[in-house]
Amino acid sequence: MSASPSPVSVRTSTSGPTAAELLDFVRRTAADAALLASLPLDPEGRTWTRLDGPGGSEAWLIGWPPGTGTGWHDHADSIGAFLTASGTLKEHSLAARLPTDGWRTLELTEDIDRSRELTPGRGRAFGRHHVHEVLNESAAEHAVSVHAYYPPLPQIRRYSRTGAVLRLEQTERPEDWQ
Ligand SMILES: [Fe+2]
Repeated sequence: MSASPSPVSVRTSTSGPTAAELLDFVRRTAADAALLASLPLDPEGRTWTRLDGPGGSEAWLIGWPPGTGTGWHDHADSIGAFLTASGTLKEHSLAARLPTDGWRTLELTEDIDRSRELTPGRGRAFGRHHVHEVLNESAAEHAVSVHAYYPPLPQIRRYSRTGAVLRLEQTERPEDWQ
């Protein structure tokens, strides 16, 4: 497995926004206090508000109560960016682009795991086939984040992770996870 290229240099084959432009959008959006305040928060589960992203991208404002997370997944052929507006999120990711098809389980190499803590104002852009999970590990504090994807989410692939073994569990369409 080779290391992924710098995510901010990724441009899709169409003329949509770059990952850097998506990151700029989520950064500017996260500074909109009135918008953030409009997101309903639920102590039991995540909440979402759909936003219009730049250049036809799909964007979301997401609320994360303490202890919630996404599980391992990727966004297939979409590039994206997200940024924490309030609270703290943890991202676990893989420093590799996985082969897209023809496998059900993969044994990951030892040095492939990455982890970063995203405090308010910190975010990241990512390229296609970026495998990650995002968590609010706080015991008490809600987190709010802004996300943008282009092309608008064609599919989400969900994985389970047992030690070094990553297993493809299911492929979801946006209508399945909304
Ligand atoms: Fe994701």
